Amino acid sequence: MDTPATRPVEFDLPASPTAASHCASTVGQAWARVPEPLPAARKAELIKRIRALLARERATLVAHYYVDADLQELAEATGGCVGDSLEMARFGRDHPAGTLVVAGVRFMGETAKILSPSKRILMPDLQATCSLDLGCPADAFAAWCDAHPDRTVVVYANTSAAVKARADWVVTSSIALDVVADLHARGERILWAPDRHLGSYVQRQTGADMLLWQGACIVHDEFKGTELELLRAEYPGAKVLAHPESPQPVLAQADVVGSTTQLIDAARKLDAAQFIVATDQGILHKMRAQAPGKDFIAAPTAGNSATCKSCAHCPWMAMNELAGLAHVLQHGANEITLDAELGRRAKAPIDRMLAFAEQRKRRVRASGDLARDTALFERVGPA
Ligand code: 13P
Ligand code: SF4
Repeated sequence: MDTPATRPVEFDLPASPTAASHCASTVGQAWARVPEPLPAARKAELIKRIRALLARERATLVAHYYVDADLQELAEATGGCVGDSLEMARFGRDHPAGTLVVAGVRFMGETAKILSPSKRILMPDLQATCSLDLGCPADAFAAWCDAHPDRTVVVYANTSAAVKARADWVVTSSIALDVVADLHARGERILWAPDRHLGSYVQRQTGADMLLWQGACIVHDEFKGTELELLRAEYPGAKVLAHPESPQPVLAQADVVGSTTQLIDAARKLDAAQFIVATDQGILHKMRAQAPGKDFIAAPTAGNSATCKSCAHCPWMAMNELAGLAHVLQHGANEITLDAELGRRAKAPIDRMLAFAEQRKRRVRASGDLARDTALFERVGPA
């Protein structure tokens, strides 16, 4: 096999707020593999092979909305799932298959392993990481937690198992607001990591007392408020859909702020013909399928010619490709392994989130507020 090209990726590497440093953040260096575009015949051959291998291995494919459209379609056509990170975690935990193939980024595969330690978890590319995970090293994070023993530690799912193991709660974008609102109502003060934009969004919405780690997603951090204003003037009827990893000036203009699934639901349900979408453009495949006839416009980033950071497509999600998927199924390669004790400690805060999500669903159903049940994407107030 030829060695594929790689591209350099820079990400924010925040200094631990407890570190004796004058520099609040430095630039970390990472890389991502650049996928090769495939001719149609090769694609068709790989898809056929993957279907056969999934059956042979009794494996199930669990994919995120940001990965290649062919992988999303394969997941759905073969009884797997495409979802946001909360749904991926839940689906993988509850599915009876002994092998899960997680098409997404590393923390998603690790979460699957944490929740199902006896299952074999494979990933098309184990090097597919996330700037939030990279920007929150476990030792610096632990030092920060040690410095604030009186605070409840809430971490976003986009983190390593070691960071999760130190948390009281793990949350995803679809449930962060509800969990923190509940903790705030109980009088708890929060230590939040790693995404600064999602953290400050939750803080503004809930009024909770939160100290924020200063990480960011390299994709969403690039969406720009001023350029969005100009684009909205060009499309005055368009609704703005934004993922909460986007900066505040973008969220302030959004009609809907939510997880990837919540944004797709909004595209389907809202009465508008045009949408400006501030999240990874991989999501447009599902949006177009769920809301045919509607128009989706990419929210503006720092610059069209800029690095892969500014193309509104996660370079690590892009590393998930058909050839890699066929290879891991054929050879049982790229298995996620995790120290059992670490996995056990990381599982407790994820279980807490999943139990909270279940309770929330039961509460909402019992209240008969079915709109709220499915429309958790609704904005709770000015972002
Ligand atoms: P969701 O949980 O909304 O799918 O987000 C995951 C992610 O990595 C967004 O960048
Ligand atoms: Fe991480 Fe951003 Fe990629 Fe999501 S889009 S996996 S937050 S780098």
